Amino acid sequence: MNTIKIALLGAGTVGSGVVRTLAMNADTITGRSGTHIEITKILVRDAKKHRPEAEGIALTDNFDEILNDTEISVVVEVMGGLTPAKDYMLRAMAAGKHVVTANKDVIAEHLAELYAAAAENNVDFLYEASVGGGIPIIKPLKECLTANSISEIMGVVNGTTNYMLTKMTEKHVSYDAVLRRAQEKGYAEANPSADVDGLDAARKAAILASLAFDTVIGFEDVSVEGISHITEDDIEYGLNLGYVIKLLAVGRNTEEGIDVRVHPVFLPKTHPLASVNGVFNAIFVRGNVLGDAMFYGRGAGSLPTASAVVADIIEIARDIVSGTTGRMKYKIGERKKLCPVEKTKSS
Ligand code: NAP
Ligand code: HSE
Repeated sequence: MNTIKIALLGAGTVGSGVVRTLAMNADTITGRSGTHIEITKILVRDAKKHRPEAEGIALTDNFDEILNDTEISVVVEVMGGLTPAKDYMLRAMAAGKHVVTANKDVIAEHLAELYAAAAENNVDFLYEASVGGGIPIIKPLKECLTANSISEIMGVVNGTTNYMLTKMTEKHVSYDAVLRRAQEKGYAEANPSADVDGLDAARKAAILASLAFDTVIGFEDVSVEGISHITEDDIEYGLNLGYVIKLLAVGRNTEEGIDVRVHPVFLPKTHPLASVNGVFNAIFVRGNVLGDAMFYGRGAGSLPTASAVVADIIEIARDIVSGTTGRMKYKIGERKKLCPVEKTKSS
């Protein structure tokens, strides 16, 4: 049996989860993909740091070592940020390497460019972990729900803020203490203001709305309000009236145009999204054929996110084995009319 060699860009929360998953489920993954999958190189900032989780794998701080390694056919970008992550992905595609990413910052702003590069270079490009952590939602939107016209997509899409709001509701702990715990658990972004200011949720909302409504919605098209101003008093006040506070991402395809927004809401305790707690996310989709559907699961963390990343790697491995890489599995839409956006982003 052949071996497919891959490289990771990043060995942090998600990267180490990918290493662990490929080792832990090696036999199952080999059986399902029809080939061995081996990580041969990992790009990190500090290649000298001791990393027991990456034992036996070559660490490098030089991307060119991965780019110029002709044996590596798949590059898995789990380093985060816009720069140099986007550039590395484009250069990997130009070198004929397939790309998997968990990076919503890049996807929310450059999806069309990345698809164009993948098509030009005849390579696969997958990004399931960019929304909802381990929850399957990108593939359902791209493949399983395509018979539907979708009018609404809505949900809890940021694990850090949902964890914080849940703990603040249940245990009356302070905002700062619970943010620290979310960071320790590996849920938060490198700069956690992306989570608490709603920017991470806005990026995910842009990706979801683009796929659901066959258009190109950028991060700048989303109206955003985060949770940093929510106090324990607000939570207490809501609870006394029968409400919980959730940070929701909402996309609607209306007659006036497409409206995409992220903001905290008071939800009645009986609402299905009110019981989505902790690091869990849930995404509700309304289609005109299926009706309503809900996707639920762990929205952040090492192994849950690795579940989605490794599924993308397996899909590419299957394509390589069957000689079907570079197929056009998704057609990006034309940009459509938007409802006016209230600019509330803090950065
Ligand atoms: P992380 O723990 O901060 O890890 C980042 C890794 O990338 C580290 O190993 C770091 O190297 C490496 N890195 C960063 N910038 C680099 C550069 N310029 N050159 C070389 N190496 C670099 O991040 P993470 O939580 O794993 O997140 C990674 C990506 O997945 C992000 O796009 C994030 O939004 C996305 N994501 C995260 C989660 C989650 O639950 N954490 C869930 C879904 C998606 P060093 O170790 O040497 O510093
Ligand atoms: N910081 C993100 C979150 C990671 O908390 O949801 C998963 O995308």
